[in-house]
Amino acid sequence: MRLNKYIASAGICSRRKADALTENGNVKVNGLVVREMGYDVKEGDVVELGGRAIKPADKRVCIILNKPKGYITSASDAQNRPTVMDLLGDVSERVFPVGRLDCDTAGLLILTNDGALSQMLTHPKHKIHKTYHAKVSGLLSDERIARLRKGVDLGGFVTAPAKLRVLRQSEHVTTVEIRIFEGKNRQVRRMFAAVGNKVVELERVAVGDILLGRLKEGHYRKMTHRELAYLDALSRK
Ligand code: URA
Repeated sequence: MRLNKYIASAGICSRRKADALTENGNVKVNGLVVREMGYDVKEGDVVELGGRAIKPADKRVCIILNKPKGYITSASDAQNRPTVMDLLGDVSERVFPVGRLDCDTAGLLILTNDGALSQMLTHPKHKIHKTYHAKVSGLLSDERIARLRKGVDLGGFVTAPAKLRVLRQSEHVTTVEIRIFEGKNRQVRRMFAAVGNKVVELERVAVGDILLGRLKEGHYRKMTHRELAYLDALSRK
């Protein structure tokens, strides 16, 4: 098995990250540093990452979590803030979050020990759309909606066309559904800020066709067979 696949299947990180770790000399095979990204791991090889022996997980685990606000999307935090890992009570496998939700953002977060799946979901070439419900301050005019649909400049980066649908509108707040497939840092907040509306609440309600549904905040569940089959079909595209 290729070294990056081996590391990713151990639930450590994506294949891309595994390549970077290898290139930087963090990986040893049978006690020797290996920088060759295409190294073929053979039966009996002992692979170490940062001095710890690793091996591929026996079974794939894919979890959907309804992340509450106030939790950071990371396995650990230098400032000791609560992380999404704190919510995974009885999950014994080593899973890691797929992509990121800001600390202030709630909603659907996928966690898995399958590095290839994580890479597929986050790589822009697969154009997996993410759907958010955003509560924004004030009225959102048709002109602003048109600009967001077309693409806005976030300072050197123009966003790809987005899908928008106003769900509720009052004088003080507008609730909008927005669907994008890019994943720049704080993209949804920055997109609304670019047209003059501040996001006051943000929730992700879907990743591709995987829906948050009625999963309660702070709760998680394993993906269904149907959801896994959907993701496998996307990976084959
Ligand atoms: N866009 C944001 O602004 N924040 C998120 O967490 C996700 C998308």
